[in-house]
Amino acid sequence: MRTQVAIIGAGPAGMFLAHLLRADGIDALVIERRDRSYVEGRVRAGVLEQATVGLMRRLGLADRLEREGMVHRGTNLSLDGRMFHIDMAALTGGSTVTVYGQQEVMRDLFDAAQVRGLEIAWNAADVALHELDGTRPFVTWRDADGAARRVDCDFVVGCDGYHGVSRASLPADVRRTFERVYPFGWLGILAEVPPVEDELVYANHERGFALASMRSATRSRYYVQCGLDEDVADWPDERFWDELCLRLGPETGARVTRGASFEKTIAPLRSFVSEPMRWGRLFLAGDAAHIVPPTGAKGMNLAVSDVTMLGEALAGHYRGQGDAGIDGYSARALARVWKAERFSWWFTSVTHRFPTMDGFDRRIQMAELDYIRGSEAAQRTLAENYVGLPLTGGVSSEAV
Ligand code: FAD
Ligand code: PHB
Repeated sequence: MRTQVAIIGAGPAGMFLAHLLRADGIDALVIERRDRSYVEGRVRAGVLEQATVGLMRRLGLADRLEREGMVHRGTNLSLDGRMFHIDMAALTGGSTVTVYGQQEVMRDLFDAAQVRGLEIAWNAADVALHELDGTRPFVTWRDADGAARRVDCDFVVGCDGYHGVSRASLPADVRRTFERVYPFGWLGILAEVPPVEDELVYANHERGFALASMRSATRSRYYVQCGLDEDVADWPDERFWDELCLRLGPETGARVTRGASFEKTIAPLRSFVSEPMRWGRLFLAGDAAHIVPPTGAKGMNLAVSDVTMLGEALAGHYRGQGDAGIDGYSARALARVWKAERFSWWFTSVTHRFPTMDGFDRRIQMAELDYIRGSEAAQRTLAENYVGLPLTGGVSSEAV
């Protein structure tokens, strides 16, 4: 088999890239370890930046998003039960975010891939990348029947997430990683109940962080910060609801509609960046290259901005416009990645309870949130990061 671009992984990064390349007439094959229902079934991100919505429109993938997506012009912060609103649209000249679950995004990407005949090799085992520093890279794997498969290509793009094989294909002496592991996780549930507020609530409470999010007018997504050693079995629904309501405070907590949860998982929180994002004929995009804690709702959006930049670079190459785009991809992507890392780290730091926190740390946190409450400048900084920074270039830390 031969293709122009072999894409490893059919998550948001891989599938958006496959659609982008198709729109530019570039051939691609997506090689995915699992099957469609597994990838589509994973409950993950919920908030799309305006640029992500824009890309879905540009690719002709936004019909259902326009009908079902919930446009949010603002968000709420809460400190020890006292809630205040941030009017993001007013602070950013009209930018908004859209609540539309990653599961829905994946369904739209896969449905359109089928209609457009995009090729996806599902259930690929033992995926391995070869000759990435030469001119003729290729990818091998075993298909669902155990048969050996191989595709030759011009470029390989690793979109295979944090646990994939692509990042490890860079030589150890080329790769640099940067990491913060947080001493807590998020316990998240889905429940068929109306959300407590029209917009999200990010709550800092002395018992720990809580987030009130949603998937629709009748489906809520709630999270509470928990210990890393905790087990979902220790969190029957009643305990979850009680803790959530405590952390949202008496006023908001009293308005929460309780119901049976049908999803309950614990996710650890991590900040991670692997540099560079290109080596030879291999490019990395999305979680394969970087992880953010979910507090800023940046994970999936960053995957989309990476492949938007990479799509432009590859299109330039195939149009014969030179390789400045592909040569500059890593620095350009990392410049934006690090700003999202900074924002996600900061937002996590001011909203969560750290086990080592003393009275001083707590009061600094409270002062910071109180400052945001009273300062339009501070709110604007938060808002412009939350709705998503532009995709223009920037100064990368890569050479430091
Ligand atoms: P992924 O979505 O991880 O996709 C990678 C794909 O590659 C997968 O389909 C995987 O099966 C495949 N793959 C892996 N290894 C191989 C291999 N060897 N060969 C072939 N294929 C392979 N972000 C938010 O903004 N908000 C959230 O609430 C949120 N919650 C999250 C909860 C969890 C548990 C996790 C893991 C992530 C969460 N994220 C959240 C982050 C967000 O979902 C990711 O940033 C986003 O999915 C990244 O997309 P991706 O395509 O880069 O990687
Ligand atoms: C979600 O709805 O799952 C969600 C929303 C906002 C976040 C993280 C997760 O910051």
